Amino acid sequence: MEMKRNPTKLLLWLMFLSDSVPFTYEKSMREQAIKLMQDTRLIDGHNDFVLRLRIFYQNRLSKVNLREINKTHTNLAKLEAGYVGAQFWSVYVLCSAQNKDAVRLTLEQIDVVKRMCNSYEELELVTTSQGISDSKKIACLIGIEGGHSIDSSLATLRMYYDLGVRYMTLTHSCNTPWSESSSKGIHNFYPSVTGLTAFGQEVVKEMNRLGMLIDLSHTSYSTAKDALHISKAPVIFSHSAAFSVCNHSRNVPDDILQQLKRNRGIIMVTFNADVLACGREAVNISTLADHFDYIKKIAGPESIGIGGDYDGVERFPEGLEDVSKYPYLIEELLRRGWSETELKAVLRENFLRVFREVEKVRLKTTLNLGKKQRSQGNISKIKESGREWTELCVAFFLSTVI
Ligand SMILES: *[C@@H]1O[C@H](CO)[C@@H](O)[C@H](O)[C@H]1NC(C)=O
Ligand SMILES: *[C@@H]1O[C@H](CO)[C@@H](O)[C@H](O)[C@H]1NC(C)=O
Ligand SMILES: *[C@@H]1O[C@H](CO)[C@@H](O)[C@H](O)[C@H]1NC(C)=O
Ligand SMILES: *[C@@H]1O[C@H](CO)[C@@H](O)[C@H](O)[C@H]1NC(C)=O
Ligand SMILES: [Zn+2]
Repeated sequence: MEMKRNPTKLLLWLMFLSDSVPFTYEKSMREQAIKLMQDTRLIDGHNDFVLRLRIFYQNRLSKVNLREINKTHTNLAKLEAGYVGAQFWSVYVLCSAQNKDAVRLTLEQIDVVKRMCNSYEELELVTTSQGISDSKKIACLIGIEGGHSIDSSLATLRMYYDLGVRYMTLTHSCNTPWSESSSKGIHNFYPSVTGLTAFGQEVVKEMNRLGMLIDLSHTSYSTAKDALHISKAPVIFSHSAAFSVCNHSRNVPDDILQQLKRNRGIIMVTFNADVLACGREAVNISTLADHFDYIKKIAGPESIGIGGDYDGVERFPEGLEDVSKYPYLIEELLRRGWSETELKAVLRENFLRVFREVEKVRLKTTLNLGKKQRSQGNISKIKESGREWTELCVAFFLSTVI
C-alpha cells in the first residue's frame, strides 16, 4: 500500500528484488545441496590420508591430532563439514615394495586405520553394507590399492578379508605377476603380462567368493575387460574418470563404461585434476561436473559414485581443495539439472547397492561350495605367478620327506 503511494520507493523495491533474485537462487541451490547431503551422507571410494600418516608421522598417532591436522586435505572436522558418512581408507604401499616387504607394509597400514578408527569417537570401523547404513558416525572401510599387496598369495588375500579389507584395486602403477596396470614405463615389473593371467582370474573368483569388491581403477583396458567378463558380482572403479572427456590412461573408455552398466557396477569419479583435465592449467568444479554429465550419458546415473582421491595426489580443481568441499560439486550438479533422486544415488545408494550385491554373491558361492575348502593353489599356478623358490622347496620337502 505504501509502495503505491510512493513511486521512488517502488523503484527501489524493484531494484532490490532484481538484485536479490539471483542471489536467492544461488543460496537456495547451496542450501538444497547441503540439505540433500545431511539426509544422504556421502560414501567416498578413495582417500590416501593414511599414507600421509606414514610419511609425516611414521604412523605414530600420538604425535598428531586428526581433528585439526593441517598439512593434509583430510581431517575429521573437514570430513564432518563435507557431510562424509563413510570413507574407504586406502591402505596403499608403493610398487617398489613388490616382492619385498609389501605384505608387512600393508599390514601396518591396516593397523593404523584400525587404531585411528577405534581411537576417535567421530569414527567407526565397519565391514558390511548394513554397518554403513547403521552407523551414526563416519564409517571407516578399508581398501587395498594394488594387487602387489597380496604377494601372489590367495591365503594372504583371505587374511586381508578377515582383517576387514573390503576392496582391492587389482593393480597400482605396476604390473603384478598376474595383472596388467594402465601405467606404462613407470616400473619395470612383469612387462609381458597382459590383462589377467590364469592366476589373476583365480584372484577375481576368490574375491567374489570372499565378498571383496573388485576395484579396477589403475588397471589396463585388458585387465578391466577380463575382470568384468569373469566377475559374478558388480565391480567398482574407486577413483577414475571418463576417457572421452580426458584421454588419460587412468580413465575409463566408453565401451568399458557400457560394460560396467551391464555389470551393475559403479565408477566413483576422482577429483584428481591431472586425470580430469589432461594437464590443462585451469581446472575447476565445471571440469569435474563435465565428467559426471558425460558418464551419466553413457552409463546412466545408477553407475556413478564419488572417489575424491584426497591426499593421494597434489592437484585438485579450484574450489575442491579438501574434503570439506563436496557440497560445491553437488550444488553444481543441481544447477546442471541433476535430480535429487539421481544425486542421492551418486552420493550413497549406488555404492550400497553394489556392496549388497557383492555380499549376496559371497553368500551364494559359500553355500554352493558347502564345506569344500579351496587350497592355496598348485605348483603350476605358483610358477606362473613368478615366485618360485620358497614354495617349490616346501613342495619338494613335502614330496620327498613325507
Ligand atoms: C592449522 O592452521 C591454522 C591457520 O592456518 C592455525 O591457526 C592452526 O594452529 C593450525 N593447526 C594445526 C594443528 O596445525
Ligand atoms: C590423447 O589425445 C592427444 C591429442 O589428440 C594425443 O596426442 C594422445 O596420444 C592421446 N593419448 C592417449 C593416451 O590416447
Ligand atoms: C570454470 O572455468 C570456466 C572457464 O575458465 C568458466 O567458464 C566456468 O564458469 C568456471 N566454473 C566454475 C564453477 O567456477
Ligand atoms: C593346477 O593348475 C592348473 C592351471 O590352473 C590346472 O590346469 C591343473 O588342473 C591344476 N592341478 C591340480 C592338481 O589342481
Ligand atoms: Zn590411485
